[in-house]
Amino acid sequence: MSDSKSLDSPDRRNFLEMATGAVGAAGVAAAAWPFVQSMNPSSDVLAKGITEADLAPIPLGESHTVAWQGKPVFIVHRKPEVAAAMQASPGGKDPEPDQKRAKKPEWLVVVGVCTHLGCVPSRTEEGWLCPCHGSVYDNSGRIIQGPAPANLEVPLYHFVGNDKIVIGEA
Ligand code: FES
Repeated sequence: MSDSKSLDSPDRRNFLEMATGAVGAAGVAAAAWPFVQSMNPSSDVLAKGITEADLAPIPLGESHTVAWQGKPVFIVHRKPEVAAAMQASPGGKDPEPDQKRAKKPEWLVVVGVCTHLGCVPSRTEEGWLCPCHGSVYDNSGRIIQGPAPANLEVPLYHFVGNDKIVIGEA
């Protein structure tokens, strides 16, 4: 029958596989958003498109997520040994020194959007794992393996004293 032939055709199968993957990716992203913490930005902060993040509540070794311009931003309080290991490593397929990515060794700030198709990666001890297609990022947000072509983006940000950053302004 022509119908069953068209269902079995490679084009149809490829489309169904792509559609299923896209729905899965959207589902994962949607499920991840409730975990993004709200920082209760004031109206002038919202108008400038910046996010102020308080670093004091982030314990050593842990990561917090804040929202910036509709995207999650991961802020990681890195242990000295983790920062040192990242500084000693050139990265993976998109090599970039950790010293250029982290303004202070103990703090890493990266946009939490996978550079493959935009899923939100999950935190692991070694960095992040993207649940959609398995991309692995290290503790500098650099792509180590998987289909993602580039490192997690480092947003514009600056420190205000030792315990606060402003994301969205250099
Ligand atoms: S979206 Fe494909 S690996 Fe992350």
